[in-house]
Amino acid sequence: DTNFFESIERIEIIACGTSKHAAMVGSFLLEQFSGIPTHVFYASEFRYSPPPLAPNTLTIGVTQSGETADTLAALNMEIKRREQFGNDLYKPNVIAITNRVESSIGRQISNIIDVSAGIEIGVAATKTFFGQLLSFYGLAITFAQIKKSKSTQEINKLISELTSLPPILKELVNTHNAISEKLAHDFSDIKDVIFLGRGINYPIALEGALKLKEISYIHAAGYPAGEMKHGPIALLDKKVPVISIATPGKVFEKVISNAQEAKARDAFLIGISPKSDGTEIFDYLMPLPVIDEWLSPLASIIPLQLLSYHIAAHRGLDVDQPRNL
Ligand code: F6R
Repeated sequence: DTNFFESIERIEIIACGTSKHAAMVGSFLLEQFSGIPTHVFYASEFRYSPPPLAPNTLTIGVTQSGETADTLAALNMEIKRREQFGNDLYKPNVIAITNRVESSIGRQISNIIDVSAGIEIGVAATKTFFGQLLSFYGLAITFAQIKKSKSTQEINKLISELTSLPPILKELVNTHNAISEKLAHDFSDIKDVIFLGRGINYPIALEGALKLKEISYIHAAGYPAGEMKHGPIALLDKKVPVISIATPGKVFEKVISNAQEAKARDAFLIGISPKSDGTEIFDYLMPLPVIDEWLSPLASIIPLQLLSYHIAAHRGLDVDQPRNL
């Protein structure tokens, strides 16, 4: 329904954990590609401190399982407070992105984007994260078309590059499966890992750190690369690997110069990047194909997921059933 999309002036997204990271990539796309002011909230925070009501707002709930209590409660609270406000401009407009249509969220919300990634068997979400990203690409492209935030050529170029990705990513999975397995040997005694990314890949740094923590029990933290010098840099020495996502585009040089700052502290630098001028700085390069910067998270997440998997497997851990989750 074109009218539904046309009337939307701002977007709020509610999610937890990995779904929140997908939502952050989504928010980047919805703002920067589709031109709509967007905010992402932790569901557990939104419940107790929702933002002031704004008109013509789309509320998106993202939950792989469709059952996360905080996400359901935050979404229901938002629907109720908008209904109670009783002004048509403030009425709830809600979409849920889930991989389980047969879930609580599927029963409660009528506008569903079905991630359709198949059952997520492992507790640590991986393929559904990728599927959530794709859902956001679909939404951002639709908004861009309706709002005309980008030219038709630009939008069509993105769509055509997106549809050409599957064989490229399939090859990426195969290559990085072998690379990460080897790298995992050097990582088994590591205590801390820092993940850096900027722009659209900042949430991927957060997700890389979360995956490593939850399945390998190694402490990891993700930062926007430009923030590292404002504190986290104090952690660095040669025992702390720094994994830096440096994809070609707007912030490539910036990320490389942040990597240089880490190198000056003797950190072991791993680059997630296509090989190019500037990437010699990395002690180890996990090579990516060159793809459009807008689409780069779809590639950069793959080595990070595989690396976590192989480090956990190398440490003899059950990757499908992390403790405490
Ligand atoms: C991480 C992970 C969790 C979930 C979070 C939200 O791998 O699985 O961080 O992402 O508990 O779960 P859903 O998406 O089902 O609402």
